Parts: sequence; C-alpha cells; structure tokens
Amino acid sequence: MFVENSRLPIECALTIEGSRSLPASMYRDDDIFELEKTSLFFRTWQYACHISQLSSPGSYVTVELFDQQLVLIRNTDGEVNCFYNVCLHRGHPLVEGVGCKARLVCPYHAWVYDLDGNLASARRADSGDAIDRSGVALTSVRVERVLDFYFVNLDPDALPLSEVAGGLEDSLNEVVPDLSDYQLNPALDYVDKPFECNWKVLIDNQLECYHCDVAHPGFAKLMDIENTRNTMQDDLVFQHIPAVSDLQDPPFPYQRDGDVGDGMFWTLFPNTILARLPGAPSLSISRLQPISATRTTRVIQVLSHPGGNTEGSEDRLKWLRDGVIEEDRGLCEAVQKGVTQRGFTQGYYAIDAQRNQLCEEPVRYFHQRYLDALSA
Ligand code: FES
Ligand SMILES: [Fe+2]
Repeated sequence: MFVENSRLPIECALTIEGSRSLPASMYRDDDIFELEKTSLFFRTWQYACHISQLSSPGSYVTVELFDQQLVLIRNTDGEVNCFYNVCLHRGHPLVEGVGCKARLVCPYHAWVYDLDGNLASARRADSGDAIDRSGVALTSVRVERVLDFYFVNLDPDALPLSEVAGGLEDSLNEVVPDLSDYQLNPALDYVDKPFECNWKVLIDNQLECYHCDVAHPGFAKLMDIENTRNTMQDDLVFQHIPAVSDLQDPPFPYQRDGDVGDGMFWTLFPNTILARLPGAPSLSISRLQPISATRTTRVIQVLSHPGGNTEGSEDRLKWLRDGVIEEDRGLCEAVQKGVTQRGFTQGYYAIDAQRNQLCEEPVRYFHQRYLDALSA
C-alpha cells in the first residue's frame, strides 16, 4: 500500500515490500524528475572521465550534469581538481570540450585562474576599488578516482565513493587485472541517440536478464543466461552471465584463444554502467544522461586491450549498437508508452529465490536505494 511522503510529489511507499514495483507515474512525472535532479543526480557519484584524458598538468575535461557545467583539470602537483566551469567575474564558462592549458583564461574579459582554481589576475582591477584576490577561487566539486576512472559529486557532504561502492575496485581488479594496460579508443566513443523513455526504464532493463532469452535472440546464443549470478552490495549491482559452453556461429569475429567469454556488468547507483562483453578484451563505461522525464541519452567510452582483436572489437560494437541496443530501445520506448496507460498504474517484480537468473531482485534493490535517496 502506498502512503504519502512529504518530500515526494506523489503518494508512494518508502519501503518496497513483496512483488509490487514503483508507481507508473514515477516514470513520467515532471515533478519527480526535478526532485531526482537535485536529490539524486546532484548528490551521487557521476562518472566524469578516464585517467588518460588528464594525462599531464593542465589537461582538462569538461562535463555537463543537467544544467551544471564542470571542468576537471590536473594541476602541477599531479592532482586532479574539479570546479564549476564558470568565471567568477560575470559567469562566462571558462573552457569548452577537452584540452590542455597552463592557466584558465576567461574568454570574456580575460580573468586568469591557476590550475588550483585561484584567481591569479583580474585585468585592470588592481587599483581604486581593487579586487582583493586573496581567497578568491573557483568553486570546487568533489572528485574521486576508482582505478582509471574519475567520478564527481556535487554534494560536498556525500559519502565517499570508496564507501558507497567499495566493492567496485576489488571486483574490477579481479575481472580485469590488467585494466591499466587498457586504452581509451576515442573512435569507439559515442553518445546514444536519445531514448524516448525515462532513465529508470533503461536502468530496470539493464538490471535484469529476465528479458534476454525472449528479446535478445543473438545475445542469448552467446550467453548461458540460466546461470546468471547477481550480487548486490551498497550502491553496486554486479551481474555475471557465463558464456555458453559450446559457442556456434558467433555474430562477430571471435577468437577462441584470448577473447573474453563471460559477460560482466556493474551498475553503480544511480546511472553508471560498466560492461565487459564477450569478444576482444574490452571494458565500456557509460553514464545515462536524463534529458527530461521521458527522454534519456547515454555517453559511452570503450577501453580496449592494445593487443586485442581490433577488428572484432569494431564488429562487436556494430552488432551491439544495431542489435542488442536497438532491441532494448524498442522495448524501453514501448514501456514508456505503457507507463502512461490508465490500465497500468504499478508493475511487479519477478522474484524467484530459487532461480537467480530469472530474479529481478537487483531491480527491486535499486528501487529501494532510489526511494531512500529521494526521501533522505
Ligand atoms: S566573465 Fe570572465 S572575465 Fe568577465
Ligand atoms: Fe536488454
């Protein structure tokens, strides 16, 4: 039964019990979307960039989180800072895209900031009502690194990423022990065409392989879906889908010696997904980027092992994008239409404790984390 909560703009139970899922209106309501922005996305760890993008002092990467613009930049001591990408004079953005600069010079009136964000000069403002530059600095944003990945969090009081997802580093180390050898392949980076659905429809879809044998026939030929294992800990869900024992007719060039067999997926609450797929050794990291309550895009980076099968990697990406991702797009966009139907007000979780592979426990687990975050 749903009870009213003062923070949520709709009636909703704060504790999920049994098999009933979130109310359908949470997948389409603009007020919920606004609440998610401030209470969820601006308070959780968001993937920003790969370490190779910040390789030397002055290297920077800009990131947009909804309407907030950030810049990560490496200083001369080798530390990575993150600031709001906004000049303190009149608010012009300081930099765009990616690059490398010895200092940040605002393109509007040329105020200058050092790599630690301190105001180094305010042109022609040194006499009369001079600006006292001491202590004037860009506003910092928290940044944390897990292995080769930098994450940011707009909430100064958020728990450290190492605390909310302490298992991520260990798990990645176990599955990809040579991760530091993997290289970002910008040719394989992409931004998905927007999905016409709420971001949670995509996350729900990611967190269960209940649909895989029904809706992804190609993927189901590669994977032993019946033996999927789900592990949930703090803000992390780990899904391990073993390879089939006897793979026939792989849909992309597959080298039986050296290529990866099992599928591994890490979903970091609320919107980051890392994936290791069968085929040439690689690891992708993506961040779902909600645009509105009913529209979402996704930014994806792919890291590949330099000795891996490059051609196989490109063909697999094509297979993924034209196949599995498009299949999921069709499902998720259809579900978005479904959650507006008067005949659908609240779904169910398929929970079967005896059959882990068909179990939607990870979806339920994430939904509880979601309600906790919204009502905190
Ligand atoms: S807005 Fe940046 S120097 Fe004026
Ligand atoms: Fe899917």
